[in-house]
Amino acid sequence: MTYKLGLIGNPIGHSLSPWIHQHFLESADLDGEYKLYEGDFEALPQVIQRLKDEQVDGFNITVPYKQVIIDFLDEMDEEAEILGAVNTVVQKNGKWKGYSTDGEGYVRSLADIFPNLLTSDASVLLLGAGGAARGIYRALMQKQVARLDIANRSLEKAEALLSLRIGNASTSVISFEEAEAQLAEYDLIVQTTSVGMKPHQDVQIIRLDNLRTGAVVSDIVYQPIMTKILQDAKSRGAQIHHGHAMLLYQGQLAFEKWTGKNLEVSHLVDQLEKKLRGEIN
Ligand code: ATR
Repeated sequence: MTYKLGLIGNPIGHSLSPWIHQHFLESADLDGEYKLYEGDFEALPQVIQRLKDEQVDGFNITVPYKQVIIDFLDEMDEEAEILGAVNTVVQKNGKWKGYSTDGEGYVRSLADIFPNLLTSDASVLLLGAGGAARGIYRALMQKQVARLDIANRSLEKAEALLSLRIGNASTSVISFEEAEAQLAEYDLIVQTTSVGMKPHQDVQIIRLDNLRTGAVVSDIVYQPIMTKILQDAKSRGAQIHHGHAMLLYQGQLAFEKWTGKNLEVSHLVDQLEKKLRGEIN
């Protein structure tokens, strides 16, 4: 068969997903295409019609459709239901089922690079409480970490994340100032806000003066690849984890849902970095 895959959202002209999924199709020795279906918020019904007419096998969803797509689905995976957001749809026998691969994709990317990090005595600090943070919060909780604190500009929004808790991890909502003061208590710091993203790459969400030696600092922002907080962490001798790794592993998980193929993708992390830097096509 020839897989018909794609991405819906706006703007998506510079998306790396076609590059990623073309590599996956080739590695899996499958025929297929991954097309972009761009449309603004009001155009969703037309975008949906195109996907139905073309009988796509699956597609990814990005801004601004991650929540509103739910109205067009036949079924929802439990995790996507809890998060209230969908970034992957699988078509089977004409029915559409929605999934969220943000959290698990993130955790997979981290676990592949730092296999001993997410243990039952790990202490984690999550920076941010938006859509991306919600999925990551759940996925880290599922890994049974010991402690998972949330720091966010709006404490109310961070409090709202607590309703998503599972497992026994201790979790507190703290301010950025408190996070800076007690930074040495964490093995992993996960930056999920948009702070540091191009064109505002000169800002950093918190200071790292108290960072513990050997800690891992992870940023889901991948434009630029080396965000200010990652540069700072590296200069202090910490280990760093880049945002483009999450993008790749999210794709791996979506591809698995569409095709049933579980691909080894770690060798593509460096390739994707080169692609982002414009060094390869
Ligand atoms: P996403 O789906 O990408 O996570 P989002 O749901 O809009 O996007 O969430 C954005 C996150 O970045 C939030 O945690 C937001 O903080 P608030 O909840 O306080 O709004 C955070 N954020 C964005 N701009 C920020 C800034 N200038 N300073 C601090 N936090 C910021």
